[in-house]
Amino acid sequence: MNAPENKRLTAEAAVDLSHWWMPFTANRQFKANPRLVSSAKGVFYKTPEGREILDATSGLWCVNAGHGREEIVAAAARQLQEMDFAPSFQFGHPIGFEFANRLIEIAPKGFDKVFYVNSGSEAVDTALKIALAYHRVRGEAQRTRLIGRERGYHGVGFGGISVGGMVNNRKAFSGALLPAVDHLPHTHDLEHNAFSRGQPAWGAHLADDLERLVALHGAETIAAVIVEPVAGSTGVLLPPKGYLEKLRALCDKHGILLIFDEVITGFGRLGTPFAADRFGVKPDLFTTAKGLTNATIPMGAVFATAKVHDAFMNGPEGMIELFHGYTYSGHPVACAAGIATLDIYQREGLLTRATRLEKEWEDAMHSLRDLPNVIDIRNIGLVGAIELSPRNGVVGARAYDAMVAAFDEGLMIRVTGDTIAMSPPLILESAHIERIVSTLRKVLSALE
Ligand SMILES: Cc1ncc(COP(=O)(O)O)c(C=O)c1O
Repeated sequence: MNAPENKRLTAEAAVDLSHWWMPFTANRQFKANPRLVSSAKGVFYKTPEGREILDATSGLWCVNAGHGREEIVAAAARQLQEMDFAPSFQFGHPIGFEFANRLIEIAPKGFDKVFYVNSGSEAVDTALKIALAYHRVRGEAQRTRLIGRERGYHGVGFGGISVGGMVNNRKAFSGALLPAVDHLPHTHDLEHNAFSRGQPAWGAHLADDLERLVALHGAETIAAVIVEPVAGSTGVLLPPKGYLEKLRALCDKHGILLIFDEVITGFGRLGTPFAADRFGVKPDLFTTAKGLTNATIPMGAVFATAKVHDAFMNGPEGMIELFHGYTYSGHPVACAAGIATLDIYQREGLLTRATRLEKEWEDAMHSLRDLPNVIDIRNIGLVGAIELSPRNGVVGARAYDAMVAAFDEGLMIRVTGDTIAMSPPLILESAHIERIVSTLRKVLSALE
């Protein structure tokens, strides 16, 4: 494809970068040396000047079926023509129900209801609110405490940052976090688990810390535990073997709801539709977003078991059961995009394709072990992480330089701290894996 005609996009310098206050970005640094992409197809972006960039991050862990899927574009366009918007408070539209039915067909057994939101952050805050309200409707209103985990990322709403455990996302807002929150320890331990392939062997006992929190606060005050089955944004932290099973058993023992945040693990990332399938552990609620619509139209969804949902259905029939929702909950265009996305996932076998690629991906990732400054490599499904040692005690500087150099070499990676995190589109082929690895080898070999 030739460089786009649009003059605004033909040269970075021709775009005025002043007025967009960019999220999670060092704005001044970025604007001094911008990295722009302006078109995308399959596993590639193109820069405004026409350079090809291999997308090793599915955008932001979200374009699972690859970019520019025409079927999704057509479905969204059709829906925009037919009905651009309809309210979902006290009214409904068939496509919203149709999408929910399709989602429940692929959800782990026992999940029966879908609550639509517009992002992962909203999904998290919604799940936390459902958990609190669930205990209340059952007569256990004193269960108000939420348990998250150190190094967890659950989006940027006040609920999400309260249960989350990434210091920079919390510290400016520390005076306004939810009051009744505690945290489990994270599971990342290089001393025991460096260069593990798949789930690490050491660390299941870390789930027992929930007993300590129960002893400290009283089980009867705890509403829910929320964890990412695989923590992504904090640098790809895998659950030790047996850890999630223990967490499930302890939650059951103490009447605590277990919430999985599947915003990145959902929709085939780990080789199964959801992480709950992969690990064989069923939560009571789980959150999704991102891959739900292949990221084409913003949307998220909270999945609830019949047990959780039905607890709300006992009052008078004319009573609103849950005072919660968003103007765009179940947006018809997002539902149309979501149905087309599911069609692609199912027809192309993408919800399980990562299983077939996992070994090749794992070997490719671990082939970089000999490179300078590499202190750990982790992988599961189509997720990979390379942790670098910090440069002169400055956390993040080395990985940031790797990201910039990779972009110059035609590869998009994501970095968090000094970890390079990758989650390529599930349509990835062997040639792309080879290109990712050879580019990383070049970049990391040259890195100071
Ligand atoms: C596990 C998890 N939860 C929640 C979120 C927040 O999603 P969003 O950015 O759509 O609000 C993310 C985003 O990366 C995530 O990884």
